[in-house]
Amino acid sequence: MDIILLGPPGAGKGTQAQRLVDRRGMKQLSTGDMLRAAVKAGTPVGLKAKAVMEAGELVSDEIVSALIGDELDALAPGQGAIFDGYPRTAPQAESLDAILGERGRTLAHVIELDVDEDALVERIVGRYTCATCGKGYHDTFEQPKVAGTCDKCGGHEFKRRPDDNEQTVRTRMAEYRAKTAPILPIYDVRGIVARVDGMADIDVVTGAIEAVLAD
Ligand code: AP5
Ligand code: MG
Ligand code: ZN
Repeated sequence: MDIILLGPPGAGKGTQAQRLVDRRGMKQLSTGDMLRAAVKAGTPVGLKAKAVMEAGELVSDEIVSALIGDELDALAPGQGAIFDGYPRTAPQAESLDAILGERGRTLAHVIELDVDEDALVERIVGRYTCATCGKGYHDTFEQPKVAGTCDKCGGHEFKRRPDDNEQTVRTRMAEYRAKTAPILPIYDVRGIVARVDGMADIDVVTGAIEAVLAD
């Protein structure tokens, strides 16, 4: 089963995708994570994307759609994909249809995380991840059980994203409103959009998503 998690920066796409991976063995396909890996590795894609991402703007449709096709081809037979942060524009939504169609796949659900943008800045500036395994945390909302030690891998190093400052977050939100929110009607007419309250506790949001997937 392939699904899209849609919502503005800080809505909880990555947090919920990680949980679905752990619970259902699905594969998280986050174009943001792929681009950050490319930046870190200094690949040609990374060199193009770095400044754009630090400004909070969108990387070109061609670059991100190329990343997605390769990742889908690497899935295990029968493994479902969670699209996290993709598609983000109408051309990307079109590309995704083509990419899935070529592989005989269809979208089962588009889950829109419904959130209050003002609260998201706090989520984002408090966010960090394990430098070893990538597990996500938050200064207030999701701390490791033992301070300074990752719950998942026992690592002791953590990192923060360069685009997680208030000014860049505001640009990312404006990009979401202008370019990403307008793609929802494409999926609405197919009857596959489910809206989930993204302001609830993390566990409650996971339960609501599970209920949609169980339908
Ligand atoms: P990307 O990495 O996709 O970032 P984003 O969309 O801005 O979303 P975030 O990762 O910031 O938020 P999230 O929804 O995953 O929230 P999280 O679960 O971490 O993209 C980054 C950049 O890459 C873009 O700006 C663009 O430049 C480029 N890019 C990527 N994809 C692209 C594409 N397709 N096209 C073009 N450019 C692209 O949660 C946030 C925090 O809140 C965490 O600390 C978490 O613990 C906490 N939290 C989560 N849920 C809750 C809850 N229910 N209650 C309390 N706290 C919560
Ligand atoms: Mg994310
Ligand atoms: Zn870890």
